[in-house]
Amino acid sequence: MNQSSALIKARKYEEEKGDRVDPILRPLYHLTPRIGWMNDPNGFSWYNGCYHLFYQYYPYAKKWGPMHWGHAVTKDFLHWEFKPAALAPDSAPDKDGCFSGSAVETGDGRHLLLYTGVNLDGSPEKGVFFQVQCVAIGDGVDYEKYESNPVIDLSGIPADTNPHDFRDPKIWREEDGTYGCVAVNGVDKDFTHGRVLYFTSKDGIHYDYRSTLLENDGTMGKMWECPDFFELDGTYVLLMSPQDVLQTPRFNCGNQTVCIVGDYDKETCKMTPKADMTVDYGIDFYATQTVLTPDGRRVMIAWMQNWDTIKFTDPALPWLGMMTLPREISIVNERLIQKPVREIEQFRTHQVIYNHVLVGDMITLDAIRGRTIDLTIELYPETFGSYTKFEMRFAVNENYYTSIVYRPRENRLEFDRSNSGTRVAVMHDRHFFVRNRNGKLKLRLLLDRYSSEVFINDGEQVMTNVLYTDLAADQICFYSDGKVLMDVEKYDLMDRT
Ligand code: FRU
Repeated sequence: MNQSSALIKARKYEEEKGDRVDPILRPLYHLTPRIGWMNDPNGFSWYNGCYHLFYQYYPYAKKWGPMHWGHAVTKDFLHWEFKPAALAPDSAPDKDGCFSGSAVETGDGRHLLLYTGVNLDGSPEKGVFFQVQCVAIGDGVDYEKYESNPVIDLSGIPADTNPHDFRDPKIWREEDGTYGCVAVNGVDKDFTHGRVLYFTSKDGIHYDYRSTLLENDGTMGKMWECPDFFELDGTYVLLMSPQDVLQTPRFNCGNQTVCIVGDYDKETCKMTPKADMTVDYGIDFYATQTVLTPDGRRVMIAWMQNWDTIKFTDPALPWLGMMTLPREISIVNERLIQKPVREIEQFRTHQVIYNHVLVGDMITLDAIRGRTIDLTIELYPETFGSYTKFEMRFAVNENYYTSIVYRPRENRLEFDRSNSGTRVAVMHDRHFFVRNRNGKLKLRLLLDRYSSEVFINDGEQVMTNVLYTDLAADQICFYSDGKVLMDVEKYDLMDRT
């Protein structure tokens, strides 16, 4: 297989620099780029006995640049092994970037990547991208770009298409061996209107545009990115990441991911939404992608970062960008439920349990500390109205802490990392409303050195945030302004294999 000089250079660079990174400078069980910059997850797929995850990658600096595809594999979603970079921007249709896309196993056992090629040539306005969809086929390590790329261009899709925003194809295989695919597109010249286009293909190479699956009704940001579409628990689910969302009671402002549940008409290839919700209420969660596991689970991963806060990093780390912990998702009563992949249970050790702890003044509990832990607390009032504020602080030392506050009267949960030791003034706090279940609230906190993921009420809501406090800051404290009872179950997360 011929490798371009751009790919050879990237592979050499990541091998030299990436493999020298001290593991303590990475999270324990979350994926980071081999070196340099990472954004969206790409090509999340099961192929040749393991899960493959590619990612938007610029190895040469901790900033976004001409996009490559980095590559890692895993068998359990927790231990990741790097593979050589899979794609470099080295052919005519993708010479300015290999943007996001997906992967699928073909009928004859090959691994097909479908991704967005970016080319700036002929652009009337400097910096405006032209985007088309391209294919590369490989064996799980090396990929050859299809010689007649692009496989989907602007011909055949609606005439009001904005050619600068047509990207992020997500492909899947139907039971009859044909392929389905969704990609996003902007309608207006001024990038104001996202929609999801639906395609079918007999061979993964030739595509027919079928319909607009769903279009922005004006309430979900502007352009949409990174769609994923699948059937789950008897209904249809569209995940996509709208840009520039306005703050409303329904959504937080900025870029985020939305889950739309609804009906799908196979004749017209159109979706009728019935419900929608924010996928993650934290700051750092974007651009989801899912995989169907061999045992039938739908597992979702996302970029654990936020475009608006990419200045929030630790200059001492040789990477920027992490992936979330993969989550098992399901739909219950038209709502998305997310749980950490069950594989994490094999990774837990040193169980510590406390029951009926009365929290008033700030307390710590023996053995409840750490930065690579799985901690569940359940709160319930001592008597009705016995407290109006509960606070848990983690990654605490004498100077710094990150906090989660719960206000039971308003059912309001607040996150704040402004005291986590940062000098960067970007958004550091979020608040949103939760449901108490007969006065009880359950929070499961997964810490992995530089991140916190909080699963609320067994995955009804999730909040994901990164933090870069010195790793020695590992204390956890609890406080209430009145009296609240708390059950605690805590595990250290470490390798038991
Ligand atoms: C989303 C995104 C995608 C695009 C990629 C470029 O974060 O903007 O739409 O393909 O990143 O790196």
